[in-house]
Amino acid sequence: MGGSTDCLPIIVVGAGGHAKVLASTLFLLGRHILGFVDSQLCRPPLLGITQLGQDDAVLSFGTSRVRLANGIGSIAPGSIRRKVYEKFCDKRYLFETVVHPSAFIAPETKIEHGTQVMAGAVIQPGAALGANVIVNTGAVVDHDCLIEAHAHIAPGATLCGAVRIGTEAHIGAGATILQSVTIGSRSMVGAGAVVTRDVPSGATVVGVPARPDVKGSSL
Ligand SMILES: CC(C)(COP(=O)(O)OP(=O)(O)OC[C@H]1O[C@@H](n2cnc3c(N)ncnc32)[C@H](O)[C@@H]1OP(=O)(O)O)[C@@H](O)C(=O)NCCC(=O)NCCS
Repeated sequence: MGGSTDCLPIIVVGAGGHAKVLASTLFLLGRHILGFVDSQLCRPPLLGITQLGQDDAVLSFGTSRVRLANGIGSIAPGSIRRKVYEKFCDKRYLFETVVHPSAFIAPETKIEHGTQVMAGAVIQPGAALGANVIVNTGAVVDHDCLIEAHAHIAPGATLCGAVRIGTEAHIGAGATILQSVTIGSRSMVGAGAVVTRDVPSGATVVGVPARPDVKGSSL
């Protein structure tokens, strides 16, 4: 299971809303944050932490001296969250797995590196979370769900049992995915949708029950 397993100082990558929530969680876990990096220079301080420079400022710290935390959120598939993760993994930096103290994670859960489970989220037994996933505030991942790398389960979304979420998919805030449904990679489920059937890769669905969104879907 994941969690903050060592005490190396952390650099947060990104400076937007997700970075703020992540930094707050890291402080709650008692972690020391060296600073943040962001592609834009001269960002204002983030909860009192200051900018170290643009993303490549990370490279002036040895890979064994720091851990990274991916503060880049994603509101759509194909975000830079994945690119940043892969860029620094290629350079042998490790991304911290972060679990908010108020999240419930069943002991039988598998969580890969760099995944973040935010406040109030619930992960039930048999679930498996790939690398660099976000299970956001108050989301529920019930038994035996499989979430592939870089997917984002937005605040308040519910995955019923044995749901499968493909790589880089985005499950919108408050959406519900019924049991045993598969959401294809790089798909987008709109906020508040109720998904009753499988969704192919690259599709966008919205509504109750969820239907393809003509503008955004590949269907
Ligand atoms: C589904 C979604 C991706 C569509 O985004 P978009 O392509 O920019 O769509 P638009 O805002 O231009 O809206 C297009 C139409 O879809 C409707 N629509 C948008 N989102 C919808 C949703 N979640 N459910 C139902 N209808 C929706 C709009 O009302 C609009 O309808 P209209 O053409 O009749 O006026 C987006 O609205 C959404 O739900 N994103 C998820 C947000 C989220 O999870 N945020 C959490 C971040 S942590």
